[in-house]
Amino acid sequence: MVCLGNICRSPLAEGILRAKLPEKDFFIDSAGTATYHIGSDPDSRSIAVANKYNIDITHLRGRQFIQQDFDEFDLIYAMDSSNLRHILNLARNKEDEAKVKLILNELTPNEDLSVPDPYYGGDQGFENVYQMLDASCEVIANKLLP
Ligand code: 4NP
Repeated sequence: MVCLGNICRSPLAEGILRAKLPEKDFFIDSAGTATYHIGSDPDSRSIAVANKYNIDITHLRGRQFIQQDFDEFDLIYAMDSSNLRHILNLARNKEDEAKVKLILNELTPNEDLSVPDPYYGGDQGFENVYQMLDASCEVIANKLLP
């Protein structure tokens, strides 16, 4: 799960998908394309909305997306079109590129919608992001589960 800062959207997406899939079978992580929040806790508003739905993301820490992530992960979900471009710029070949998807295309295929960045908004923005990510992760989990 990849966003810009790795403190608002992608940690929430990571926590939501972790809650839907068995831990022993799936390695789920998140990262940001930017460097400003490396080592940071998730935004308190993401922690709060996750907590409201019984998901604990307090232990997650910000990190930057790196090229080696293409070797570690089978699927890479970008939160928005800018994140998508950034990730694709790091891709080394067609195989890397094929792993990268916009997360909302799981919910609304081919529409290329972005999860809005809630950083400069209020709590309602975080609730809205939570609902979009929960619905998208439900589709992802149902595809991945046997
Ligand atoms: P995120 O949100 O990409 O969902 O983690 C942001 C967090 C921080 C900033 C921008 C977006 N920032 O400019 O510091």
